[in-house]
Amino acid sequence: KVIILDFGSQYTQLIARRIRESGIYSEIHPCTVSLEDLKAMQPSALVLSGGPSSVAGEESPQVDQGVFQLGLPILGICYGMQLMAHLFGGQVEPARNREYGRASFEFVSDCPLWEGLGDKDGLTVWMSHGDTVLTPPPGFEVLGRTSSVEIAAVGDSQQKIYGLQFHPEVAHTEEGYRILHNFLFKVAGLVPDWSMTSFIQDCIQEIREMIPDDEQVVCGLSGGIDSTVVAVLLHKAIGKRLHCILVDNGVLRHNEALEVVESLTKHFDLNLKHVEAQDLFLSRLHGVKDPEEKRKIIGHTFIEVFEKEAKSIPDVKWLAQGTLYPDVIESVSFKGPSAVIKSHHNVGGLPEKMDLKLVEPLRELFKDEVRKVAVELGIPDTIVWRHPFPGPGLAIRVIGTITPERLEILRKSDRIVQNELFASNWYTRVWQGFAVLLPLKTVGVMGDERTYEHVVALRIVDSIDAMTADWSRIPPEILARISNRIINEVQGVNRVVFDISSKPPSTIEWE
Ligand code: XMP
Repeated sequence: KVIILDFGSQYTQLIARRIRESGIYSEIHPCTVSLEDLKAMQPSALVLSGGPSSVAGEESPQVDQGVFQLGLPILGICYGMQLMAHLFGGQVEPARNREYGRASFEFVSDCPLWEGLGDKDGLTVWMSHGDTVLTPPPGFEVLGRTSSVEIAAVGDSQQKIYGLQFHPEVAHTEEGYRILHNFLFKVAGLVPDWSMTSFIQDCIQEIREMIPDDEQVVCGLSGGIDSTVVAVLLHKAIGKRLHCILVDNGVLRHNEALEVVESLTKHFDLNLKHVEAQDLFLSRLHGVKDPEEKRKIIGHTFIEVFEKEAKSIPDVKWLAQGTLYPDVIESVSFKGPSAVIKSHHNVGGLPEKMDLKLVEPLRELFKDEVRKVAVELGIPDTIVWRHPFPGPGLAIRVIGTITPERLEILRKSDRIVQNELFASNWYTRVWQGFAVLLPLKTVGVMGDERTYEHVVALRIVDSIDAMTADWSRIPPEILARISNRIINEVQGVNRVVFDISSKPPSTIEWE
């Protein structure tokens, strides 16, 4: 495996994903990892990531210099290259010309990293750096330059150590993928062995070894891809000793619980209990306006209902959760846990409260890998490509107080949005698309009569990770159709508006 030492670059995850796409397993660890721990991981190559710091800075992140004595092939990217150059005795200085964005890179001498790029003199690459290497360390050859940086790539072919000033992991770098490939296969001589098929086999084996024959596992199913993949993997490993629980909290989409139950029991014969707790949730939400209050009520009630169900199963010792690799990295990042706290993504506190051990089979995977696993496991497309749906569900999309009538208006409107996105093939092209019911009425006219009815907002966004988003440029004909249908088919709505804000400064949800 390849270990990536993280110096705080925004692209570190991208490096890991690119390497995995090449069929090599990779993991990210903070640059502060101890040499002993690193050795214990038995890496076959190292990548030093970029980072926002200057090597001359007082608090510049460092790495145990012993890593350079392990005889491993190393690729340093941006800060990673500057740090290596500095540690190996080169000269690094803050650049007179900072370089951000696109740059023209020219090859200066041949090296294995450039293999297969033979007919080109140079590449368009993506830069983002403040420091530059002024003289290469002894033993290192200059491999490339740009118009503003004389030393934009260096290497020591004896030691198999290379440094790139640009970012080969980003899509804007021409042939970046091939350069990473060359590092993995030509320099480090690795053999691809990471695939979703091998992941599934290993994962099932590990689960079997981890969970003793007389112990049961409980898993909350939401109908989303993560919990479904967790459930199917565990089911393959331990069969009926897995107990899935789907809680209908009364704020799911139209027919959602039934569709999920049907498609999962039909395809996989899961041991699945559908708990109808709509009334309990809705009675507790009665009269509540504040969104955070809604979230708390739904979260606590979920835990209560889930715990009661789980306790009724004898010998339950484990809770299965769909934690993904980005959550794991976030909590071990050398910058400390990220400021963005996603407490709503897990069932906080449940394992400790019930004294359960955790089984998290997706801890190593990125979202796109989870999708590949899902496809390979034969999980239906409707689940694989399902848009993210918040735990508090429609409760935070009925703005203001929730009543059964208002929920029904939203449900019907939302169903039209989903149907039309599917029918026009836009569903999989956008990140998320849904309806929001606003807490106001406006004037309209139907036939000869004046109406005074609800407003529905459409929120349809593009995003890659929900951290930032922009409104999707849906063709006007499709918007017109959605609007017409909602106004004609959903009683109580006389106006539909389209949300054209980006995140930031807005958010994806309205509450
Ligand atoms: P925002 O509104 O913060 O949403 O831009 C980002 C992503 O998170 C989802 N979201 C939630 N998911 N519980 C969840 O499980 C929540 O309370 C919650 N709030 C927002 C939202 O749908 C989007 O995908």
